[in-house]
Amino acid sequence: MKTVRDIRTLREVLQGFRHDGDSVALVPTMGNLHKGHMGLVRLAGEYAERIVTSVFVNPTQFGPNEDFENYPRTFDTDRRRLSRAGVDIMFAPAHEEMYPFGLKNRTSVSVPGLPAILCGEQRPGHFDGVTSVVNRLFNAVAPDVAVFGQKDYQQLIIIRRMVADLHMPIRILASPTFREKTGLALSSRNRYLTDDERERAAELYAAICDCRDRYLAGERDIAALEREGLARLARAGFEPEYLAVRQQGDLSLPDRDSCLLVVLAAARLGETRLIDNVLFEVNVAGERL
Ligand code: PAJ
Repeated sequence: MKTVRDIRTLREVLQGFRHDGDSVALVPTMGNLHKGHMGLVRLAGEYAERIVTSVFVNPTQFGPNEDFENYPRTFDTDRRRLSRAGVDIMFAPAHEEMYPFGLKNRTSVSVPGLPAILCGEQRPGHFDGVTSVVNRLFNAVAPDVAVFGQKDYQQLIIIRRMVADLHMPIRILASPTFREKTGLALSSRNRYLTDDERERAAELYAAICDCRDRYLAGERDIAALEREGLARLARAGFEPEYLAVRQQGDLSLPDRDSCLLVVLAAARLGETRLIDNVLFEVNVAGERL
């Protein structure tokens, strides 16, 4: 595996792959890799001959009071894991490489509407930071496919919207959420949890699954489902931000005929912000598919 720090070298290596007729998959990450990230890498390998994984803690998607400084950076372990997984290039650029005109003077890429709701309401500017860096990565790598996790569902559909709206010839693949045995979704931020919090953290997944199951059992008072889910999280010691039943396509409120749904939630447990979601389908009669 090659570790590459600059876009010029990256393009030279990729040109060699292209010359051999190989297709290229990109897996964007912020490092501190866990099994969820490695699942993305595996999926990438099923769709392309060559895999590029980027490791870049992107400053523009962190708010002023967020954990940019403390975000776990585990470069050497990440490199070993990626190499063992058969990744061809680990792309780990410096800030100046990604934002050559400086963070303040950067060109920003902004999808309208979707970034303002749910997580975006709590984290203004976050998704513009994500689309701005993912756009740069797409331009640097020009991949055939790019893989994102369902765990960050709002991020996934915002990126899909950007790719469609800007006519980017890149297929976006979604990888399912990897979880601990308790149900807790794997996340780099789980390492901030104390032992006691880690045990209680599984309640987030339990609460969204319960909301899904009640919907599937015929309950249609979405406001009541959301209210009760939030109360359950508060009882478990969370400070919930939102718990919402939405349509998968555009995160709008479901109507009676909606078939593809998602329950999403975000909540704080002590110092740690956790997010999770479950996708589900109902047929027109409202039964589980
Ligand atoms: P990061 O949080 O490092 O996540 C990188 C990718 O791994 C994302 O697509 C995310 O959805 C996926 N992922 C994280 N935890 C997962 C899990 N438990 N199961 C499955 N997939 C999981 O998301 C980002 O970085 C950044 O916003 C990025 C897209 C790299 C832009 O900076």
